Amino acid sequence: MRVLIAGSSGAIAEAVAKRMRDEGDHVFTLSRAGEPSATHCVADLTKPSSVEQVKAFVEKCGPLDAVFCGTGLLHGGWNMPEKSLSQLSMDWLQQNMLVNVQTHVHLAQAVEAIVKRSAPIKWVSLSAMVGSLEDNGLGGWYSYRMSKAALNMFIRNLSIEWSRKAPGSVVVAQHPGTTDSKLSEPFQAGIAEGKLYTREQTAERLVDVMKALTPEQNGRLLHWDGSVIPF
Ligand SMILES: NC(=O)c1ccc[n+]([C@@H]2O[C@H](COP(=O)([O-])OP(=O)(O)OC[C@H]3O[C@@H](n4cnc5c(N)ncnc54)[C@H](OP(=O)(O)O)[C@@H]3O)[C@@H](O)[C@H]2O)c1
Repeated sequence: MRVLIAGSSGAIAEAVAKRMRDEGDHVFTLSRAGEPSATHCVADLTKPSSVEQVKAFVEKCGPLDAVFCGTGLLHGGWNMPEKSLSQLSMDWLQQNMLVNVQTHVHLAQAVEAIVKRSAPIKWVSLSAMVGSLEDNGLGGWYSYRMSKAALNMFIRNLSIEWSRKAPGSVVVAQHPGTTDSKLSEPFQAGIAEGKLYTREQTAERLVDVMKALTPEQNGRLLHWDGSVIPF
């Protein structure tokens, strides 16, 4: 499989890239970090200018079978997920929208030209179960939940557009499961025994699901095992 993996300095995306290389796949990566090369694009997907830059990189990659977008944000600097309405600020909501939604939109805009009737594509955006309205029985985490819900709607729209443009394409959002990373680190104390997965475990599961994606799953939010999570 020929795959482009974005957010590749992130814990999960990096492990997915390693897993796929180990399985003999042809892996291209994209990150704000690292040195540019024939297989690595250095770009900041929060910036509109990244679209043209990544488009030029993708053209040089040649055909791609799949794209995996692992960018996302839960906390940073002084900002932790909100526990109540009074903590919700438009600045932090906008930052969440920028990283959790806009990066995926820019990547899709950069890749769009290679998605053709003769070249359908598999697309996986890492989302989160807490972005599911149906699943939300706890509240809190306003900005993260709202931005992941918006990402899920983007994915549903994209799945409809690309399945018309390139029948056979499969576009999904996926919950990776709670995985040991910088992103989950402040919240790991509250995780039930056996429910915090290593990045290698998560990568193995996500790669298995990606490789087995079928058009019946198009537009869905999937759990790490490939089962469907209600939106
Ligand atoms: N870990 C979990 O338990 C968990 C649970 C549910 C959902 N998720 C989702 O899974 C995805 C990956 O999570 P992870 O644990 O691998 O997180 P991570 O290690 O923090 O990686 C996230 C990546 O997103 C990109 N990113 C973060 N902030 C950014 C910014 N301000 N501007 C541009 N890019 C930025 C970076 O990619 P580059 O530095 O390479 O550009 C970063 O490495 C996220 O979407 C997260 O919401 C994770």
